[in-house]
Amino acid sequence: STCAVGVVGLGVMGSSLCLNIAEHASCRVAGFDLSSEKARDVVERARREGDLPFEAFTKLEPFVAALIPPRRIILLVPAGKPVDAALDALSPLLADGDTVVDMGNEWYQLTEARQARMAGLGVHYMGCGISGGESGARSGPCLMPSGSPAAWATVAPILRAIAARTADGPCVAYLGMGAAGNYVKMVHNGVEYGDMQLIGEAYHLMRTLGGLTNAQIGAVFDRWSQGPLASYLVEITAAILRTKDAAFTADGLPAGAAAAAGGGAEADRADLVDMIKDSCGSKGTGKWTVQEAAEQGVAAPTMSAALEARYLSSLLSERQRAVGRMPFRPASATVRIFSPMLAIARGFLAIACAWAPSTAALGARLIGWPLITAGPCLVDDLEQALYSAKLCSYAQGLALIQRAADAKGWDVDLAELARIWKGGCIIRAAMLDEIRAALRTRKALSDSILHGGVLRAHLDVRQAGWRRAIMRAIEHGVPAPALSSSLAFYDTLRQPRLPSAALIQAQRDFFGGHTYERVDRPGSFHTLWKL
Ligand code: 6PG
Repeated sequence: STCAVGVVGLGVMGSSLCLNIAEHASCRVAGFDLSSEKARDVVERARREGDLPFEAFTKLEPFVAALIPPRRIILLVPAGKPVDAALDALSPLLADGDTVVDMGNEWYQLTEARQARMAGLGVHYMGCGISGGESGARSGPCLMPSGSPAAWATVAPILRAIAARTADGPCVAYLGMGAAGNYVKMVHNGVEYGDMQLIGEAYHLMRTLGGLTNAQIGAVFDRWSQGPLASYLVEITAAILRTKDAAFTADGLPAGAAAAAGGGAEADRADLVDMIKDSCGSKGTGKWTVQEAAEQGVAAPTMSAALEARYLSSLLSERQRAVGRMPFRPASATVRIFSPMLAIARGFLAIACAWAPSTAALGARLIGWPLITAGPCLVDDLEQALYSAKLCSYAQGLALIQRAADAKGWDVDLAELARIWKGGCIIRAAMLDEIRAALRTRKALSDSILHGGVLRAHLDVRQAGWRRAIMRAIEHGVPAPALSSSLAFYDTLRQPRLPSAALIQAQRDFFGGHTYERVDRPGSFHTLWKL
């Protein structure tokens, strides 16, 4: 036995992780896959990428035999049945004290069941969230492990060596017993859905209402990625918006044919984003987060809105059929009367901006015509809106994790979570530093947003722009469900009294005798309501 770690599953993530371990954990790695082609590919990659200490197996017995006991095996196979199949095949070959770490996006209750099953064999079983995609797996992912402390002690040196690093250390933290790691990764993905939808809404508004081109919006995202909104998702959005279609030109000609006809230059090619079908897919972790939020009785409006927006986007044929049948009827006379004038004025402004960009924008601002400067003002408002809505979305995700941790006895340190989410993972963002600082003094992020410190101040100064951005979206008939549900979350928390909730309690008591509590004395009350 010569290998310190074994990886089962040499797909995109598994193969990258093997090479990461071989390179950064200073140990020999064994990889297993039923496909000899995949096994060969990884051996070849290991050779090409610096003769990394890696060997591949297509049979389980020699793979397990190659591992130094007590064995450490990482599973990177699709969640659900494939994990059970892998465990069925592995179990007879494992011994007391071995550790198996499942790094898939697994439903946490399945991990808990497997932990119990493997404990019967004396095998430690961990659920470990991994984020960062293929490149993260290769060069430094964010890792979210949980299980018994003994299991953690065995794998900690390896996980620390391969994780992404920030100035505050490696992006891995032991999250406690049970399947806390899978749970935290699930919520990470819920937050990811929220972030992506918020960015998508800002893009939609800039594109349609602001009349900006993809390249211009890309430049806006580039600028945002240097400021408080700095994050991986904002950065990749800028890159996406700069990307031209490699396959086809704007008029639909295959790039090869266009090149043959003398066309096909970079400028002639369509923006790739415009060629992508506007119907979102999902693999399930966002749905689980929303289901789990409901299960725990925690409000997660931003993530719910993001999930529903994905479902709605897939109603492509319904949306096509609605064209002309569901015309836009502006609510305000301002929009009705000024929209055409605004379009003309914006045209002039665009020309002025192209001619002397900073002078034109500054001039427009000084003149103080918010309607004419819809482009620049909208962009500023959206920056405020995006920051605020994102902060509220984090607050919802962290509240869900805390509620589940309290219920299940997991010892999850939310400040530590903010630290490890700062690097390697998809939702890594500059604002996590401030979130972490806030969580050191208050247990719930929503407390900080409402009652104290720098986060409350951020929302104080940003909420006017946030509201303006949403008002414009509503006025112009552009859907912005995540931006607005985040604001509803914030506004609800701000209300000392919710008349709507009092009324609903009365209605429940009226038709169902469900009783209500009173503000002036304790107890539960029922009224004989009359129609
Ligand atoms: C990550 C990602 C990763 C995966 C998502 C995609 O953290 O690296 O979240 O886990 O890309 O599961 O999820 P959807 O297909 O549901 O968008």
